[in-house]
Amino acid sequence: MKSAEKLNIARSQEIYKEALPLVPGGVLGARKPADFIEGEYPIFVESGRGGRVIDVDGNEYIDFLCGYGPIILGYREEEVDEAVIRQIRDKGFCFTLTQRYQNELAKKLTQLVPCSQMSIFLKTGSDATTASIRIARAFTNRIKVMRCGYHGWHDWCVEMKGGVPEKFYEDVFEFRYNRLDQLDELMAKHGDQTAAIIMTPFGHPLHSKMEEPKPGFLEGVREIATRYGAILVFDEVRTGFRLAIGGAQAYYGVTPDLVVLGKGMANGYAISVVTGKREVMMASAQKLFISSTFFPNSDGFVAALKTIEILERDRVLDHIWEKGTRFWKKIQGCLDRYDVGAELSGLAPMFFITFKRDEANTHRAKRDDFYTQLIRRRVFLHPHHHGYICHRHTDQDLDLAAKAIEEALAYVKEKHGR
Ligand SMILES: Cc1ncc(COP(=O)(O)O)c(C=O)c1O
Repeated sequence: MKSAEKLNIARSQEIYKEALPLVPGGVLGARKPADFIEGEYPIFVESGRGGRVIDVDGNEYIDFLCGYGPIILGYREEEVDEAVIRQIRDKGFCFTLTQRYQNELAKKLTQLVPCSQMSIFLKTGSDATTASIRIARAFTNRIKVMRCGYHGWHDWCVEMKGGVPEKFYEDVFEFRYNRLDQLDELMAKHGDQTAAIIMTPFGHPLHSKMEEPKPGFLEGVREIATRYGAILVFDEVRTGFRLAIGGAQAYYGVTPDLVVLGKGMANGYAISVVTGKREVMMASAQKLFISSTFFPNSDGFVAALKTIEILERDRVLDHIWEKGTRFWKKIQGCLDRYDVGAELSGLAPMFFITFKRDEANTHRAKRDDFYTQLIRRRVFLHPHHHGYICHRHTDQDLDLAAKAIEEALAYVKEKHGR
């Protein structure tokens, strides 16, 4: 299989060069060129529609990153955008006082999300995970936190510790997904001082295969939290509205005390929420100050209400599961045929292709070659992050992507052998 031609990303690189003296690092965090494959992936995007995006050089991609998660319907989903534009034009969205949509959205969540009784709305996932920890600490009058997964960029949980005093995270302990024994051990030591156990209910660690819960894992965590009187928080910033409309807690049938939702709730508009048991949530009304100028802005609420209306009305998740499962089978078939050490993990709506570590240490080169061939074939998947299926991915998009995956695997096979 011949290599596909390298993309022209000259304009992306030009804008990046211009950005370097203006914005530290040119672009922030997980958007840095080094986080993809430098020189191969575009850096700046121009527009998107449905399941596709166009970069500043005019290359069009079938996009599976979906804005790192929020695009659950598709880019420029007209009904959602129109609802927001109407709100902005006819009523306004930024006021001193709160508009009524918060009640509507809070009510909706109580109908959809098993643990939801009361809600606090914020803007980002990091806002909401941090608020959940503060609520749990206020409710329990305890300090320590057990965590599992990525929870955002705030001081208590950020992975890169630069600029963060140790005291801000010295009471936070990590355990690995599916390692109940690790949590057990930590809780045996710190359980009576533990305010919260916060975890992604589905395992999606950075750079690694995704993991479903082993039988009894989530139930075991639930039991440990209850036994020690700690608040169980599910971080469903990614899985919320994706695995099921009620999130992974509905999908797996294990109910936390609090859940954090963000990304997929509003098809790209900034809104997040901590929602959960009344008695725990009430701690925040009595003891805490959680407030930001922008939290009550109604653009996010209107977008969330419309997005959820569409998810329910059009049975979007059923469709995502159906087409995602067909796509999954095709990819798995390719991986089996070419047998280059590539593995598919996750579930139909959220999937990841990784390369098994091998003795000769060729897995990194294989991975980079594979993802280089994919992006050159205009399929936007990420070498270090899982992809998502969105509502507007068409059967044609998925067929083209499956063909590109097959060709990229054939290229890797020819170049590296097994
Ligand atoms: C599981 C999880 N929690 C929290 C966050 C933080 O959300 P945000 O980037 O909106 O602050 C993310 C973001 O990727 C996430 O994946």
